[in-house]
Amino acid sequence: MLKMKNIAVFVSGGGTNLQALIDAQERGEIKNGRIVFVLASNDRAYAIQRAEKADIEHQVVSRKAYASSEDYDAAILAALEHRDIDLIVLAGFLSILGPTVIEKYRNRIINIHPSLIPLFCGDGFYGKKVHTAVLASGMKVTGATAHFVNEITDGGAIILQKAVPIEQGDNEDILQYRVMRQAEWEILPRAVSLVCEERIRIVGNRTEILGATN
Ligand code: GAR
Repeated sequence: MLKMKNIAVFVSGGGTNLQALIDAQERGEIKNGRIVFVLASNDRAYAIQRAEKADIEHQVVSRKAYASSEDYDAAILAALEHRDIDLIVLAGFLSILGPTVIEKYRNRIINIHPSLIPLFCGDGFYGKKVHTAVLASGMKVTGATAHFVNEITDGGAIILQKAVPIEQGDNEDILQYRVMRQAEWEILPRAVSLVCEERIRIVGNRTEILGATN
């Protein structure tokens, strides 16, 4: 019998990916896991209201409240251990996770990134900045990536990706919304479910889905 996984979702902003996870959970699509905790990096994150509405315990752990990054990491770990968290999902989380958290949760942290990694990722590529760079490149296709988190920004093994077309007349807002609706809100809950079901095998920097039919 697999242990039912306790999921913590880390947020900093609007929380539409958190909402997609909550909605997927309500439809029974997060198999073998449940969202038990939401950690916000600031108290202005609208994601907190979403957690409240869904009756999910939440806490603000702000980097500014701690003297050092070590103290901040220790506070995060304490919040997680207290709730027996098995899996962390970074859903638009803009603070930097320290090495102790990454080590402790090796292959148990998932991030959603709004481009097709390894394009338009790494330090400085977050939120709308990603879409600005994508549009400036002239590419005709972009997408989103759900991946494991390691010490390299956006460098962990890729779990799922989905491509999204770039259309004539797109601006950052239009493209961001299309990438979220067509890709992020779909692949993030699927990746989370697969990891909770222990169906992802990591081979080097590649992953395989166990029991996939294609
Ligand atoms: C999402 O587009 C997510 O992919 C992106 O921030 C947005 C958060 O929106 N994350 C990154 O850029 C991470 N590098 P949300 O708060 O509505 O889910």
